[in-house]
Amino acid sequence: MDQAMLTLARRVMGTAYAPYSKFHVGAVVRGGNGKLYAGCNVENAAYPQGWCAETSAIAAMIADGERRIVEVAVIGAGAALVTPCGGCRQRLREFAGEATPIHICGPDGLRQTVTLGELLPLSFGPENLP
Ligand code: THU
Repeated sequence: MDQAMLTLARRVMGTAYAPYSKFHVGAVVRGGNGKLYAGCNVENAAYPQGWCAETSAIAAMIADGERRIVEVAVIGAGAALVTPCGGCRQRLREFAGEATPIHICGPDGLRQTVTLGELLPLSFGPENLP
């Protein structure tokens, strides 16, 4: 992960709307075009209507006309790793392959890099449809 990706992830984490959980998350995806797309979590008074930072970042990429994710960064505070939730793993899978690296970051920087295939083994993706 380069510095630009981490810097952008940190910055977008600061824009999170998370008044209920107070857990601010930033996500950045790198498109196949090389561009970085950022998103944060957006919560809602009707709790289940909130959504994750990864979902926001994917939406920004799609709105720009890009359809391929080649790298992902997620950042949040706390002692535990901020790994993408199950729903976001599947949303990432739509546009990323099993080998796509996912950089899990904390306030101090990179904590661990995993692949999407490790987070979502034997996944069902677009190629699984007839
Ligand atoms: N959240 C994310 O945005 N991404 C993750 O990878 C994990 C969880 C958000 C959802 C919710 O707004 C808050 O963190 C607490 O779960």
